[in-house]
Amino acid sequence: MNLRRSHSCGELTQKNSGQEVILSGWVQRRRDHGGVIFVDLRDRTGITQVVFNPKINSKLHKEAEQLRSEYVISVKGKVEARPEGMKNPKMKTGDIEIEVTEFEILSSSKPLPFMIEDEAEVGENIRLQYRYLDLRRPLLQKNFVLRHEVAHVIRQYLSKEKFLELETPFLIKSTPEGARDYVVPSRLYPGHFFALPQSPQLFKQIFMVAGFERYFQIVRCFRDEDLRADRQPEFTQVDIEMSFIDQEDVMKLLEGMMVEVFKKAKNVTPSIPFPRLTYDEAMTRYGVDKPDIRFGLELKNTTDLVKDVEFKVFSFAAKEGGLVQAITIPKGALFSRKDFDECEKVVGIYGAKGLAWVKIENGQWHGPISKFFKPEQIKNINERTGAKEGDALVFVADTDPQVVYDALGNLRIHLGKKLNLIDKNKEAFCWVYQFPLFEFSKEDNRYVSKHHPFTSPREEDMDILTTHPDKAYAKAYDLVLNGVELGGGSIRIHNADIQRKVFKALKIEEKEAQQKFGFLLEALQFGAPPHGGIALGLDRLMMLLCETDSIRDVIAFPKTQKAQCLMSDAPSTIDDKQLKELHLKITKE
Ligand code: AMO
Ligand code: AMP
Repeated sequence: MNLRRSHSCGELTQKNSGQEVILSGWVQRRRDHGGVIFVDLRDRTGITQVVFNPKINSKLHKEAEQLRSEYVISVKGKVEARPEGMKNPKMKTGDIEIEVTEFEILSSSKPLPFMIEDEAEVGENIRLQYRYLDLRRPLLQKNFVLRHEVAHVIRQYLSKEKFLELETPFLIKSTPEGARDYVVPSRLYPGHFFALPQSPQLFKQIFMVAGFERYFQIVRCFRDEDLRADRQPEFTQVDIEMSFIDQEDVMKLLEGMMVEVFKKAKNVTPSIPFPRLTYDEAMTRYGVDKPDIRFGLELKNTTDLVKDVEFKVFSFAAKEGGLVQAITIPKGALFSRKDFDECEKVVGIYGAKGLAWVKIENGQWHGPISKFFKPEQIKNINERTGAKEGDALVFVADTDPQVVYDALGNLRIHLGKKLNLIDKNKEAFCWVYQFPLFEFSKEDNRYVSKHHPFTSPREEDMDILTTHPDKAYAKAYDLVLNGVELGGGSIRIHNADIQRKVFKALKIEEKEAQQKFGFLLEALQFGAPPHGGIALGLDRLMMLLCETDSIRDVIAFPKTQKAQCLMSDAPSTIDDKQLKELHLKITKE
């Protein structure tokens, strides 16, 4: 390399006219125009047009003919103002070009499987196979620059708040977070395995016992679970734990952090404190525990009003301890049969047996079920739901409240999009807190932790843990942004007796508890401070900041939906020698 660059491809403007510069980068495009060769030269910072003019140097011009897309070159030349009419106001460097006087090919490129452009139409599998080419696209480059900046802001903020960035091991004993573990066989201990951490949960609590008081880590977590658009088998958490605090302190800390992050990334200052809803309130008003509060369309409970109506679907659910909830669709009287059918399909996905609807026109209910309602009943329901002339009401009834919440919660999101009620430029944060401590698992036929088994029950619920586990609430909280669960955490149990009680409610035997997390139980007996924390999904935060629907756009080397890395072809088989060393035998099913 003879030419060492003096400037980047994104910085030169008319002010640099006349200067001699050296640029290095990739050939984005070569165009031949009336004997003159134009090359768009690209580096991380932008694109500059460089010109090979045969009238100025015919030898160089001839050599430039061999340039192809993605060749890596250095050029030396003078910055010239572009002639009027040739300027490109869309580009930062659009007023100038470089008149090349010397150049060097540093590297050539094979013909490309796809063009390095944001608009390139190419299947995701090809993009992931050639991820290094995909990552050259300006949009992805921008995402990763922002990811760096956000991580930096977070580190600065937490350091200022006196948190220590401490590391925890990757080869550990399994930590229960509800997903399946990725496991690593041990060579030295035949038949023994490490697990990769689903989160550093137990270790960060041990840091508190060890007296570090304030810990954070931007850390990889591993979960072998079914993948969705916002889930990856390995993902990154901003993991936080602190001592001598309560829920309010964690919330305040995170609110301050979000303010710094959004100032940097979006140039906006979210208003704090964020609204707070209990889990029960979130469910009854929005049907989900991660409500998108950018728009209304709230669910209204009409169960008590329909106990005696003639429409059996409603009165049956109401009498059997179920739920009948409604959403008012503003101007819904304009909905066609097809619109309601579409809504019915949505609720069907979530297990609803149907969707009842009425339109309010000329002061009356219209629709298939209206004949089953008396004027008094209609009046009460209109009042409760706020439905008025020109609106429509949609109802779901079920003996299982969860079905109603799921169905209407998802229908609400569908309607919000369909009716264009969601302001894309708004950041609507909220906290959902006071989650149930346990939930009943039909699969295991016992209660399991809603968050994790180290989460503290509320003080007032300590005595009902084993007698009424379904009624106990946890000191647990989630941070939600625009309907996405960004993070979750809790105040922990710091007392071994309470921890034992929770295990008892979970039907985890003393022996099993000792075997699985004996080290934590032991540690809790050596002076554990009250503590709690939270973990933010950094990838999910980046998705929202980068305005992308795919988590793969903010992870440099992501796995596919089928948990494979197409670039390196992992997972793959290992050779017999390695298997033997690890004391493993593969049995094909
Ligand atoms: P939790 O399991 O709720 O809590 O995880 C915290 C946050 O991590 C993100 N997240 C994921 N992101 C991408 N892909 C995944 N597969 C994935 N799974 C989770 C989410 C989620 O809100 N130890 C506790 C935290 C604590 O109690 O302090 C924990 O891991 O944004
Ligand atoms: P049917 O009595 O089955 O003819 O249903 C009459 C209307 O009630 C239809 O619009 C159904 O979609 C609706 N419906 C049926 N089951 C339910 C339910 N569980 N909740 C709400 N609406 C329902």
